[in-house]
Amino acid sequence: MSRSAHPAGPRHADVYPEGHYTAPATDLNELDPKVWSRTVTRDADGALTVGGIEVARLADEFGTPAYFLDESDFRARCRAWSDAFGPDADVFYAGKAFLSRAVVRWLQEEGLNLDVCSGGELATALDAGMPAERIAFHGNNKTVAEIERAVEAGVGRIVLDSFQEIVRVAHVAQRLGVRQRVQIRVTVGVEAHTHEFIATAHEDQKFGIALADGLAAEAVRRALTLDGIELIGIHSHIGSQIFDMAGFEVSARRVVQLLAEVRDEHGVELPEIDLGGGLGIAYTSEDDPREPHEIAKALSDIVTRECESAGLRTPRISVEPGRAIVGPTAFTLYEVGTIKPLEGLRTYVSVDGGMSDNIRTALYDAEYSVALVSRSSDAEPMLVRVVGKHCESGDIVVKDAFLPSDLAPGDLIAVPATGAYCRSMASNYNHALRPPVVAVRDGEARVIVRRETEEDLLRLDVG
Ligand code: LLP
Repeated sequence: MSRSAHPAGPRHADVYPEGHYTAPATDLNELDPKVWSRTVTRDADGALTVGGIEVARLADEFGTPAYFLDESDFRARCRAWSDAFGPDADVFYAGKAFLSRAVVRWLQEEGLNLDVCSGGELATALDAGMPAERIAFHGNNKTVAEIERAVEAGVGRIVLDSFQEIVRVAHVAQRLGVRQRVQIRVTVGVEAHTHEFIATAHEDQKFGIALADGLAAEAVRRALTLDGIELIGIHSHIGSQIFDMAGFEVSARRVVQLLAEVRDEHGVELPEIDLGGGLGIAYTSEDDPREPHEIAKALSDIVTRECESAGLRTPRISVEPGRAIVGPTAFTLYEVGTIKPLEGLRTYVSVDGGMSDNIRTALYDAEYSVALVSRSSDAEPMLVRVVGKHCESGDIVVKDAFLPSDLAPGDLIAVPATGAYCRSMASNYNHALRPPVVAVRDGEARVIVRRETEEDLLRLDVG
């Protein structure tokens, strides 16, 4: 998770008698460009603007809570990733972070490929016109129906996650009279330094086939014997919200070792490796993410070096960033409702959303930042916990943060870096209506995923 420490700083320490937290040394009106999307700024009146539009206008037009996605930032990040990796590598955006038809079109326009992990994501990608050959299909338990759909559509690759799936995909492809390009997902035995629930390359979990005990080598052996599939490479995804490149380097090294073993045993040089996604972003000012060009260089250096020493041709590399592309491009806008100061503890600030639009704080103990955005304020900072409106005490959006002490009901506050895994993991808990996603670009704002309505909820309820 985010590595952020508690806000620290020498000023205003006397405001918090228990001494657990000291108020931030920085001005609360400052918007740290690390956590806010690129076109976010404060206007002369102190209100936040994104894409040139003031938040109060956005709130009036689209309501709250709502996610505002900075389209030009999204596109710039796509280009930064594809420029960093260059023409000899492929960038697959991981749709699980956030997917909609508009996003699929932007990806196409910016030259990216797409990783989908369910029939629903595949349907969205195809519906929005993503060429099937630019789609990779993932998942640890793809249904036969999903596999059929993917093979029929002609997806560029299916990433095989188990021995059973090797056979399932081969059978489906054979039945449909095609040869499906596949990769095998291996678990390389790396302990990624992130939250347990989003680490995926240690051995005791559900994804992939372990390199240990020769299992992955056996999977390759089987895949090479089946007519319905063409094994094009090896895939490894070690986890998410990772800052340290060491895990990726170990992963790359072990995947290349497997390629060398495959060459030695079968005389086949698999042409591709995929090193997954998982690059961390800044949720608070304490986080220091790597830039795409640093990541690309680190990965391609290690793969090239390892291949040279194994006497292998360097395979084509692909990566699957989700969070690192969309995460920083959006913020969630909330209206402040009830404000409840708890003497000697903290002030609970309730907003009109909560765990239904951002489950990450409850699920992973994720840390977020928050700012008053409808105006600036010079009031003293107060220690707050931003909570939602759900019937659950774990309904926390931002666990520990500072907001100005003159905060009042009706103010707008925003939580940055909510582009990834917030709308895509949103729920209807307490029959909450999932918020819209509004794309903002060059002074124009348009809904790309509309707000759910009570009719939407009731339409599913057919009893
Ligand atoms: N490729 C594969 C095979 C994956 O499983 C994932 C994420 C990605 C790429 C993209 O990872 P990213 O670059 O976005 O970190 N819900 C969690 C994250 C789960 C990630 C699952 N797989 C969260 O909110 O942190």
